[in-house]
Amino acid sequence: MTILEKTIAKEKIEKVPIWFMRQAGRYLPEYQMIKKDRSFMEMVMDPEIASEITLQPIKRFDLDAAIIFSDILVILHALNMNVSFDNGLPEISKVVNDENDIDELVKSYSSEMLSDRLKYYSKAIELTRKGLQTEKTLIGFAAAPFTLASYMIEGKTSKTHAKTRAWMYSNPHTFGKLMDFIVKSTIDYLNIQIKAGANVIQLFDSWGDAMATDIYLKHLVSYIEKISESVSKKVPVIYFCRGASIHRESLTRLYKKGVSVISLDWRLPINSFGDYPVQGNLDPAVLLSNPDTVRNMTLEVLNARGNKPGFIFNLGHGIYPETPMENVEAMVNTVKQFKPNY
Ligand code: CP3
Repeated sequence: MTILEKTIAKEKIEKVPIWFMRQAGRYLPEYQMIKKDRSFMEMVMDPEIASEITLQPIKRFDLDAAIIFSDILVILHALNMNVSFDNGLPEISKVVNDENDIDELVKSYSSEMLSDRLKYYSKAIELTRKGLQTEKTLIGFAAAPFTLASYMIEGKTSKTHAKTRAWMYSNPHTFGKLMDFIVKSTIDYLNIQIKAGANVIQLFDSWGDAMATDIYLKHLVSYIEKISESVSKKVPVIYFCRGASIHRESLTRLYKKGVSVISLDWRLPINSFGDYPVQGNLDPAVLLSNPDTVRNMTLEVLNARGNKPGFIFNLGHGIYPETPMENVEAMVNTVKQFKPNY
C-alpha cells in the first residue's frame, strides 16, 4: 500500500502525508519553462511531457502523492465537445442545450471509444507510475456530476450556474438523463485511470456549493454515490467539495457510500468530521503571506487534526499561480517536521 492508502485505512504511519491541489502548475518555474511554447492541451496530450510535469512538484518538495497532469474537462474533449483552453480559461463550444443533444451524446458513446480517445492519458499515467517511488501515491481524478454538468451546459466556468440550475428545476427528467450519462462515462473514465495505475481517485465538486443543501441531498448526492460505490471497489475515493461546509448532511452520508475521505475547503474546521478520514484545509491565500504566518497557520491545521490517524494535509483549494516558492517550502517543511502524537 502507498502512504496515502495506509493513511486512509487509518494506520498509524508516524507522519502526516502531504500533497496539494494544483501542485503541478503555474506557480512552478520549471512548469513555466515547459509551458512557454506549448498549449495546455498539447502538454496534456503528450504522455512524456504530462508525466514530467506531474513529477515536477514531487522532485522539488518530495510530496507523498502526485496528481496526474490533466484536467476535469479532458473527458469532454474525448467526447468531442470541442474544449479549448486557449486563453487559459476553458471554453466548450458544443454545449448541451436540450434532450436531443443528450441523445446524441448517448448514441455516439461507448466505453471502447472513450478508452481509445484517451490512450495518451493511460500512457501518461503508466509512465508516471513507473517514475514514482512505490510508497508514493498517484492520484487520478474526475469532476463530480453536478460540476461536469455545469460545464457541459454553460460552456465555461459560470459564476451563477443559472442555466444548469434552471434546467434542473424546469425539467428534472432530462436533467436526470444527462446526469445518468455523466455517471456512466465518469465511471469508465476513472476505470481507465485505475487500470493504468492510479492508486487513489479524487472527485472535484468545485461548483457543488451552487445548489441548496436540501436539493443537493435529495437530488444530487445519489449520482456521486453511484460513482463512489463503483470506484471504491477498486481504490479509495476522496471527495472535494468547494464550499463543503454547507452540505454537511450529504457529506456524512457519502462516507457510508464509498467515499473514504472528505477534502475540506478552509471554511470549515478540519476536525469537523470526528474520526472520519479528512484532507485539507489550509486557505491557499495563506501562501500569499509570509513564511512565519504560513508556519503558524499550517501548525494550527496540524494541531487540530494531525494527532489522530486518517489525516492528509492539503490546501482548502488549488494553489494560486502567484504563490511565492518560499511560502510553499515553509508549509511543506512544517508538515514534514510534525510528529503525530497518536
Ligand atoms: O496539479 C494538479 O492539480 C493537476 C492538474 C489539474 C488541472 N486542473 C490543471 C489545469 C487539476 C486536478 C484540475 C482540476 C480542475 N480543472 C478543476 C477542479 C479543481 C478546482 O480548481 O476547483 C476545475 C474546476 C477545472 C476547470 C479548469 N481548468 C479551469 C477553471 C481552468 C482555468 C483556470 C485555472 O484554474 O487554471 C482550467 C485550466 C487548467 N487546468 C490549467 C491547469 C494547469 C491552466 C491552463 C493554462 O494556464 O493554460
